[in-house]
Amino acid sequence: MGVMYQQENGLFHLYNDNISYIMKILKNGHLGHLYFGKRLHLRDDYDYIIEEKWRSQTAYIENGNGEMISLAGMMQEFPVHGNTDFRQPAFAVRMENGSAITDAKFAGARIVDGKPELSGLPATYTEDPGEAQTLQIDLIDALTGLKVTLNYTVFEKYNAIARSVCLANEGKEALHITTAMSFSLDLPDSDYEWMQFSGAWARERYQYVRPLTPGIVSVGSRAGISSQEQNPFVILKRKDTNEEQGEAIGLSLIYSGNFLAQAEVDAQDVTRLMIGLHPDSFDWKLDCGETLQLPEAVAAYTKKGLNDLSSQYHHLYRQRLCRGPWRDKGRPILLNNWEATYFDITEEKLVKIASKAKECGVELFVLDDGWFGDRRDDHAGLGDWVPSPDVLPNGIGVLADKIHALGLMFGLWFEPEMVNADSDLFRAHPDWILQTPGREPSLGRHQLVLDFSRKEVVDCIYDMMAKVMEETKLDYIKWDMNRPLTEVYSAALPYDRQGEVFHRYVLGVYDLYDRLTKRFPDVLFESCASGGARFDAGLLYYAPQAWTSDDTDAMERLKIQYGTSYGYPVASMGAHVSAVPNHQLNRITSIDTRANVAMFGTFGYELDLNLLSDEEIERVKAQIEFMKANRELLQQGDFYRILSPFKGNETEWICVSADKKHAIAAWFRVLNVVNGPVKKIRFTGLDEDTLYTVSGIEGTFYGDELMEIGVPEIENMNAHGRINTCDYMSRLYEIHAVTM
Ligand code: DGJ
Repeated sequence: MGVMYQQENGLFHLYNDNISYIMKILKNGHLGHLYFGKRLHLRDDYDYIIEEKWRSQTAYIENGNGEMISLAGMMQEFPVHGNTDFRQPAFAVRMENGSAITDAKFAGARIVDGKPELSGLPATYTEDPGEAQTLQIDLIDALTGLKVTLNYTVFEKYNAIARSVCLANEGKEALHITTAMSFSLDLPDSDYEWMQFSGAWARERYQYVRPLTPGIVSVGSRAGISSQEQNPFVILKRKDTNEEQGEAIGLSLIYSGNFLAQAEVDAQDVTRLMIGLHPDSFDWKLDCGETLQLPEAVAAYTKKGLNDLSSQYHHLYRQRLCRGPWRDKGRPILLNNWEATYFDITEEKLVKIASKAKECGVELFVLDDGWFGDRRDDHAGLGDWVPSPDVLPNGIGVLADKIHALGLMFGLWFEPEMVNADSDLFRAHPDWILQTPGREPSLGRHQLVLDFSRKEVVDCIYDMMAKVMEETKLDYIKWDMNRPLTEVYSAALPYDRQGEVFHRYVLGVYDLYDRLTKRFPDVLFESCASGGARFDAGLLYYAPQAWTSDDTDAMERLKIQYGTSYGYPVASMGAHVSAVPNHQLNRITSIDTRANVAMFGTFGYELDLNLLSDEEIERVKAQIEFMKANRELLQQGDFYRILSPFKGNETEWICVSADKKHAIAAWFRVLNVVNGPVKKIRFTGLDEDTLYTVSGIEGTFYGDELMEIGVPEIENMNAHGRINTCDYMSRLYEIHAVTM
C-alpha cells in the first residue's frame, strides 16, 4: 500500500493490494485522471491512456508550451469551469468583476503517512500512520490566487480512496465559491448502470437502477438534510454485475446536508461521476487569507460484485469512521417507549414498562419525546430541554435512578435543532430561527428550525443538554430532527454570506455533536430524522447507529434495511420489534418474524411488553438470549445479500464470521405459496471446503454445496395436519463449521 509520486514525469499512483488510482499532470499543468480500478503494476509511463484528438466544433487553448489543447475529452481530477471543457465542473468561482471562469494548475505535492484530520468535519481516520498514506496535491489559479489542495488517502485494508478538497484564497480579492465538489472521477467509457437509493418517509432507500445514456443523471437534496428522498451514496456498475461478481464503483459523501451526486456522459462516452455539496444552494465568500475545507467523499472499487463493494464500505465505516467505545462493542438491546405510549407518559408507567423489559433481558431503556418543557403533544416545548414537573413530578434524576437501579442503562430523546413557537426559548429569542426577512417562516410538524449557523444558539442548546446528561448520568441519546429547512437565512450574517447558511448550519450540528461526544465519550448516540431522513456517513462519525425508518413493519423493513445495506453496515441500522397491528400499516406479522428482521440491526423493542401474552414473552426472552449470544456475529460479521425484496416474494441475507466458522442467515417470504416447488435455500460467504451443520436440517454439508445447491426449505405440519406456512414467514438458519 502506498503512494508512488514520480516528480520527473508528474505521475501519481495510489495503490494497495487490490486497487490502483493513477493521475498525471497534463501538458497544460492541469491534473489529469488516468485510471481507477483493479491494482496495476507500478510503471513510469501510462501516457497512452491520455487521449488527445483534434475534433471540429470544439475550442483549444494554448498550453503554455506553444501547443494547443482542449480539455473537452480529457479525463481530469478537478475539472475547471468555463473554458474548453463543457461538462459539469468540479468547482466554480465568482470574482469581484463577475467573471466565473476557473483554472487550476499543478503547484506541488507531498505525501504524509496516515491521514490528517479534517477540521470541523467528520471523516475517515487512521489509528496508526501505517494504515494509510495521504497524497496532498496543490493546484493554483494564477489569476485569482485560489489554491486548491486535493487530499487523497489510500488505505491498506479497504479498497477505497478517500478524497477531500481544501480551498485557500491566497489572492488579493474576495472570491465566491459557487461549486466545489468533493470527488470528481472521469471514467473512460459509459457502459454502466447507475444505482441510487431513494424513497420517502417510512420507505427510505429503495434501490433504483437505470443505464447511463448521454447526458446527466443526478440525485440530490436541497432540504438541508441528506434526506429521505435521496441518499448521498450512489453506485456505477457494469450491466452484468450482480451481488457475486462484476465491476462496480461506489461514491459516498461523508456529509449530512444538501448534496449532489451525478454522472454525466459526454459525446465521446466519457463518464464524469461526482459528489459534493449541492451547488444550487451554496455560495461561500472566501475572503483573502481564508480557507474552506469541504467534506470528504469515499470512492470504492470492486471486480467481485455488489456484496464486495458494500463490504468495503461496511468495514471502513464501521472501523475507521465510527468512533468511541461503542464502535467495537455489541450495541445494547433497548426498549424505546415511543410506540408504546407516545406522549402519554408518567413516571409510574415508564418504570412499569422498563421493569418488564428488564425481566425479559433488555439492557437499555429509552425515554422518547415528551419529557421536557410543555411538550404534552407536538405543538409545544421544543427548545426547552428542562424536565417537565407535570410529567415527572419527582424530577428526571429520580426516574434515571430508578431505571439504573433496575440494572438498565438510561437513554433520552432530544431534538436539539428545533424550537416550537410555544416555548420559553422562542419567546426569549424569536430571532434565533432560520427566517427570511419579510416572509413568514414555514412550519413542519408545528416547529421552526433554530439557526445552528450561530454559535450562541449552539452554545445555549449545549448547556441545556449537558445539564440533563449530567443529572441523569445518561448512557444514550436519540438525536431526532423532524423537518426540512426552509426560508434559509441567518439574521447574523451579511447579505453576501447568505449562501453559506445551509453549510454553516450543518457545521453547527457537527459542532454540537463534537462537543457532546467529547464531554460524554461513553454515551451512545443514535441519530434519527423522522426515521431515516439523515442516514448518512457524516453522522456515523458521531453517532455509530441511526434509526433506519419510522416504518417498523417487518415486511417493509426488508426493503428498507436491504437498500440501506448497500452503503452502510448492519451495526449502524436501528431496528426494533414493534406492536401488531403495526402502527404504520396495520399489518400483523408474528413476533418471530419481527425479531428476525430487527436482529440484522442494532435490535430492540418499541412496544409495552406488559401487553404481550405469556407465550409471546417467552419468545421475547428467547430472542434476547439469542441476540446476546450472537450479537458480535450479527453486528460485526460480514453481511451478504442473497435474495432481493426488490425482485420478488423472498428475501434472504446472511452474516458470516471473519473466520467463516459461524454464520446466521435469515430467509423471508412475504406471501405464502400453495403447492409450490420445494425451494432450495442457498447461502453465500462460506468457505467452500469447510464442512458445516445447518440448524433444522439433518446432516453435514460442505460450504460449496451450501452455496451452489442449498438446503431444502423446511415445511412442518401443524396440529391439524396442515402445512405450517403462512404469509410473512421467516426462518433463521444457524450455520456452524463442524469441529473435527
Ligand atoms: C420521529 C422519530 O422518528 C420517532 O421515532 C419518534 O422519536 C418521534 N419523532 C418522536 O416525536
